[in-house]
Amino acid sequence: MTVRQKRWILVALVAGLILGERGNVPAQDQAVKKLNPLTGNAEAIQEGRGVYFKYSCNACHGGTGGGGMAGAPPLFDDEWKYGSDDETLRKLIKGEIPNQIMPPVGQSMTDDEIWKVLAWIRSLYKGDPSKINW
Ligand code: HEC
Repeated sequence: MTVRQKRWILVALVAGLILGERGNVPAQDQAVKKLNPLTGNAEAIQEGRGVYFKYSCNACHGGTGGGGMAGAPPLFDDEWKYGSDDETLRKLIKGEIPNQIMPPVGQSMTDDEIWKVLAWIRSLYKGDPSKINW
């Protein structure tokens, strides 16, 4: 092999490395996005409880989030049908998850109301603390 050929192989290898790298999703993009600016905010949690009753979430999920009605799951355990992150739950409340059973209650809610009600739901959490991704 000539020096020239060797050089080309080296160039191809480096290019392959760079291009291959680009094909992989960087770790920080795979991480769950924490979108709710109101998580842990005491005032928002209080108001979120009001939002929960205003939109009759309690009709299915119960007054304290225990679930049970109309096949609605409890909101304070660490089992989540579609995922526990902010983005997934926001979509679910807005009715944007394909074939979801929960009605699109959140279509008439403002973003502020959605984040408040989620802040309240987060405050109810009694599951494994290591599973918190919000
Ligand atoms: C008509 C009954 C009903 C109402 C009203 C309702 N939900 Fe749900 N909810 C469900 C069902 C059923 C599921 C299970 C997910 C699915 O299959 O769509 C669910 C799932 C959820 C989950 C995810 C729970 C999990 O374990 O995965 C959250 C959070 C949630 N609802 C919040 C709300 C909020 C907030 C409201 C009010 C704005 C609300 N729900 C109103 C029936 C309801």
